[in-house]
Amino acid sequence: MAKTPFYITTAISYVNGSPHLGHAYEAILTDVMARFKRLDGYDVMFLTGTDEHGEKVAKTAEQNGMKPKEFADKNAAEFQAMTKLLGISNDDFIRTTEERHHIASQAIWKRLQDNGDIYLGKYKGWYSIREEGYFTEDELTKIPETGEYLTPNGTEAKWVEEESYFFKLSEYTDKLLTYYEDHPEFIQPESRRNEIISFVKGGLKDLSISRHKDRLNWGIPVPEDKNHIMYVWLDALTNYITGVNFPDESSENFKKFWPADYHVIGKDIIRFHAVYWPAFLISAGLDIPKTIFAHGFINVQGQKMSKSVGNVLSPIDMIDTYGLEQIRYFLMREISHGQDGNFSHEQAIERMNADLANGIGNLAQRTLSMIYKNCNSQIPEHGEFTEQDNALMNQGYEKLLESLRQHTDKFEYNIVIESIMSLARNADKYIDTQAPWILKKEDPKRMETVLYVLSEVIRCIAISIQFITPDAAGKILDQINVSESNRLFKHLSADYSLKAGTNINKPYGVFPRIVEDEQMQKVSE
Ligand code: MSP
Repeated sequence: MAKTPFYITTAISYVNGSPHLGHAYEAILTDVMARFKRLDGYDVMFLTGTDEHGEKVAKTAEQNGMKPKEFADKNAAEFQAMTKLLGISNDDFIRTTEERHHIASQAIWKRLQDNGDIYLGKYKGWYSIREEGYFTEDELTKIPETGEYLTPNGTEAKWVEEESYFFKLSEYTDKLLTYYEDHPEFIQPESRRNEIISFVKGGLKDLSISRHKDRLNWGIPVPEDKNHIMYVWLDALTNYITGVNFPDESSENFKKFWPADYHVIGKDIIRFHAVYWPAFLISAGLDIPKTIFAHGFINVQGQKMSKSVGNVLSPIDMIDTYGLEQIRYFLMREISHGQDGNFSHEQAIERMNADLANGIGNLAQRTLSMIYKNCNSQIPEHGEFTEQDNALMNQGYEKLLESLRQHTDKFEYNIVIESIMSLARNADKYIDTQAPWILKKEDPKRMETVLYVLSEVIRCIAISIQFITPDAAGKILDQINVSESNRLFKHLSADYSLKAGTNINKPYGVFPRIVEDEQMQKVSE
């Protein structure tokens, strides 16, 4: 049977600086969903990349005494390196400076134009370069001391007047409202959906979608007008279709993967994705992605990350300090993903040690060592199962999978992880009540059954946690010799239970306990 296609993307990051914890969080959040779907038998396409044009990048390049392309190359390489370092399983990495993307962006422009939605006019209004976004006067706050106007996200907006092409966004107000109404799953979470609906109900103005090249020359030229450069957001949003071969709509990738299942983005850029993007797509005669999921922002030690506060965390430093799997686990476990989250050093250490080192890691090592020593390093034979044995194993089979599926689709990974951890905790209790070390003398056959049950539970825990901590989970499955082809979610079933007599490898801990040392100060300061 053909696998169901599943297409997921992150936002593409501006290359005006180095990657930080916020970028890492989004990449991991999306990676976790992509891995989940692959394990659940889907044909997954996962795209991430970099957004390299626009005023913000051009200006920062200039401040750094570099040409925009040279500057973009340097920083795009850092984002590519971060993706590798975080174990992100993307199938493609798109840079908006690539030729394929220029072709796609000019093609979508022509489609909007052919549909009669583009005209030349003059833009007069507020613009924030930091957000590359337009604002109306009533959205801004004037700071009396400096005379600056700030957007709701706290960036400065300046008054701009220039000739530009416009997209007839105002004509899409009703179409969009109807679309939101008919597709309640389109904008998630609910709070963001309400925010967007009330914004659109306020009425939409036509959108300026080009810059005169005398003011900005870093971007994709408007087709048939060399004096204009495309607005960076029209170019940037198009990446999602470039990634599946647009404008070649008859290509296998386009047919298979468009419309995307999820665009995973931060709450600050929801308007671009939930208002502009569907309007462009309707105008171009293309389908609209199924869901825009807006995650919250991550603060550090309770404060917004900012260069001036000096609390911007680098993913490289964090991996050095805590370990990759630990970071992935913590971010996915601790945060409610539609809301803002916090990274605190103390909480991280506590969570990583309690759940990983002392929890899953200890359970696996303790059990497998008992088997290794007492059962001739082989999965033992089991006798008749008791009610407790069955209850514990059943918790790891279909019921677990059902809960994983139900919550993963809503990005409720914290709940998913909790259901896996609850199995680990019940296994610990089971060890205490069954006391295999006593059975060893009193009833060795029963000891073998108990250890068999535990090895089966460990198999289920390791299979189910692979999408969060792929490396450590893989090591546990290697220790019990579960073959690569038996590690999918469909194997969370008694039908694929471990065979008695399977050799196990010498057990070792896969989640080291994190001990505080000086290096930690770097992150906790
Ligand atoms: N280039 C645009 C996106 C274009 S998508 C067609 C952009 N880039 S960004 O580099 O500023 O942000 C990339 C992503 O990281 C966004 O989804 C943004 O919300 C997210 N984050 C940036 N800082 C963040 C935190 N502190 N916490 C969580 N995510 C944050 O926007």
